Amino acid sequence: MFEDVTFNFAGKVALVTGVASPIGIGRAIMRGLAAAGAAVAGCDIDDDLLAEAAVELPDAFLRNVDVRDRAQVAAFVRDVAARFGRVDILVNNAAVAPFRAIVDLDEADWDATFDTNVKGYFLFAQAVARLMIDQGQGGSIVNISSVSVHESGQHKAHYCASKAAVGSLTKGLAVELGRSGVRVNAVEPGAVDTLIVKDDYLAGLLSSWDEDPGLPINRIARGEDMVGAALFLCSDAAAYITGASILVDGGGFAGGLLPDDVLRAYEVAMK
Ligand SMILES: NC(=O)c1ccc[n+]([C@@H]2O[C@H](COP(=O)([O-])OP(=O)(O)OC[C@H]3O[C@@H](n4cnc5c(N)ncnc54)[C@H](O)[C@@H]3O)[C@@H](O)[C@H]2O)c1
Repeated sequence: MFEDVTFNFAGKVALVTGVASPIGIGRAIMRGLAAAGAAVAGCDIDDDLLAEAAVELPDAFLRNVDVRDRAQVAAFVRDVAARFGRVDILVNNAAVAPFRAIVDLDEADWDATFDTNVKGYFLFAQAVARLMIDQGQGGSIVNISSVSVHESGQHKAHYCASKAAVGSLTKGLAVELGRSGVRVNAVEPGAVDTLIVKDDYLAGLLSSWDEDPGLPINRIARGEDMVGAALFLCSDAAAYITGASILVDGGGFAGGLLPDDVLRAYEVAMK
């Protein structure tokens, strides 16, 4: 739970996509924004988990919206503005990661990945940016990207390509919207223990992570670990930051760790 609330979003209206999972990054960020005083709206396509979110956050405006559908996105943004009077913050978070080797990947999985992870971010950014420009008081858009912006890997080439597109889209939006006072930045999570990585395919990987995540910060992230960076970028403390990204990866990209047996041999040699 994100309890150390050091931001104040009183009077602000925030919209977060992909908020249904109770252990997801989107729910954690919506929780954090609400705890810091924002009026929050969220969407997802998982009705059961959305109903559970409504119990946890009864004041949140929650709707089933498919981020791939322009009409649904436009209607939701209009409804949020009608309900709360304005929108100040957008967190683009909803994404899918159907893990497959590139030789097995079918066109439907490619399309689902790019339609959700890239087109969905574009549709929400466009609808909210138009509203923010009309409101005339700027705003902040945070795209949940990934360390995959910087590297690819086995069975996720399509997912990583979609996140690389999000990295570029973040910069392009920042350039186009900066003069309107709308800042656009990204959070780049490393491995986070959420439903997106909890399918059967990755079960073995997760248990090996539990034993040794291989990170300078010696644990896999939880959704809550992304809240601080997201709220910072949404806040006035980041007033001069746009087109930037914050890596939140437990130090994974800072450098690799030596294997335990090599370290043990080193310690013996140093005695
Ligand atoms: N978990 C990780 O290791 C990790 C690492 C780097 C980046 N990320 C990114 O973090 C973000 C959140 O992922 P998460 O790890 O919390 O996973 P998650 O699966 O818990 O969250 C994704 C949410 O998006 C929703 N969603 C999927 N398709 C949708 C659609 N068409 N319309 C509306 N909602 C839709 C899902 O129902 C789900 O609730 C994603 O952008 C993901 O790429 C995750």
